[in-house]
Amino acid sequence: MTRNLLVTGGAGFIGSNFIHYLQTHTPEIEIYNLDLLTYAGRLENLDDLPVPGKHHFIRGSICDAERVESILKDHQISTIVHFAAESHVDRSLKNPGAFIDTNVVGTHTLLEAACKVWEDQPGKHRFHHISTDEVFGSLRSGEPAFTEKTPYAPNSPYAASKAASDHLVRAYGKSFGLPYSISNTSNNYGPFQFPEKLIPLLISNALAGKPLPIYGDGKQIRDWLYVEDHCTAIWTIIEKGQPGKSYNVGGNNQTPNIKIVELICSILDEKVPDSPFRPHQQLIQFVKDRPGHDRRYAIDSHLIQEELGWEPQNDLRGGLEKTVDWYLAHTDWLKAIQQGTSYQDWIEKNYQERGRA
Ligand code: NAD
Ligand code: TYD
Repeated sequence: MTRNLLVTGGAGFIGSNFIHYLQTHTPEIEIYNLDLLTYAGRLENLDDLPVPGKHHFIRGSICDAERVESILKDHQISTIVHFAAESHVDRSLKNPGAFIDTNVVGTHTLLEAACKVWEDQPGKHRFHHISTDEVFGSLRSGEPAFTEKTPYAPNSPYAASKAASDHLVRAYGKSFGLPYSISNTSNNYGPFQFPEKLIPLLISNALAGKPLPIYGDGKQIRDWLYVEDHCTAIWTIIEKGQPGKSYNVGGNNQTPNIKIVELICSILDEKVPDSPFRPHQQLIQFVKDRPGHDRRYAIDSHLIQEELGWEPQNDLRGGLEKTVDWYLAHTDWLKAIQQGTSYQDWIEKNYQERGRA
């Protein structure tokens, strides 16, 4: 029997990596990819798929109830993998409304459609919701890592909108019996990440000899996860995880931002020995901190490791080397984004506003 999956936001960073991963490991699955192609969605991310005939792109919004319902019905979707979101904390500080519309209202629209359509379609279904560790708020030094039992305490509009969407998913499970799962994941990095996020921004600026902006003192800690490890975790949860559960997924890589920038600079020094900007560390600039900046995130992944046997396969240095290699081999991909005026405007404005610390 064919199995039909709806992926939302599959032209974005993690969604496109997930589609590549799935086509490599389970090429028989039909994938319907609903993506609005906002500034963060790039169809080029889906060039070179291993099984292009089994990927069906649909441009549209998760907030469009009629469209979502007809996709679920027409294609007999049995599994929804929900990535679509506004995903950048800095943008959520400028325009929180967009985060409420997409992350909260959009998720609610999908949940309503899934309940309605699946009620008439017997069979095994799953709604998997991709979320973040940012819903748990900020940890102080020495505090234990987030577990699935950590209370929610989101600090940014982005984190609050993701927390609201997590609660809605859980509520639809409890109230209406929707078979759901949720993964709360730490910061991802890897190929196809839009260069507004820390790691691709640093690589892209360093290659162009531009400043490498570090917010505040650079001692904020994130628990970095290579995106392919995240994709294996998502598929493991969908295939083996119990419905009605959340799983925390982390990379065991708690690292301060300043160490990330130093690592990237040293990798670039090695890989681009004739760069006029060597040593790349000279490009580091401390700038004004992000308002409400969470100090530390750390994930305890024991549940998924012990219950489902998942473990991250990439250490930080190895993952960063692969990431730098990918960006070096895809300078055209970067250029196409950099030449867009909205990208330039965002990066310049953000940088100007922060100024030097
Ligand atoms: P991204 O910004 O790279 O991609 C988001 C995608 O969603 C884009 O392709 C965009 O066009 C699409 N989209 C936006 N609004 C839409 C709408 N209304 N309808 C349909 N499509 C729409 O994001 P990402 O980094 O790939 O994140 C994917 C998911 O993972 C998000 O839910 C995010 O909250 C979560 N997450 C991300 C990270 C991370 O480090 N990037 C960590 C934890 C969780
Ligand atoms: P980011 O990639 O925006 O992810 P998130 O805010 O979801 O964690 O940022 C990662 C960390 O890097 C975060 O502590 C903010 C910091 N940061 C900088 O220091 N400079 C930058 O230019 C950016 C974009 C982020």
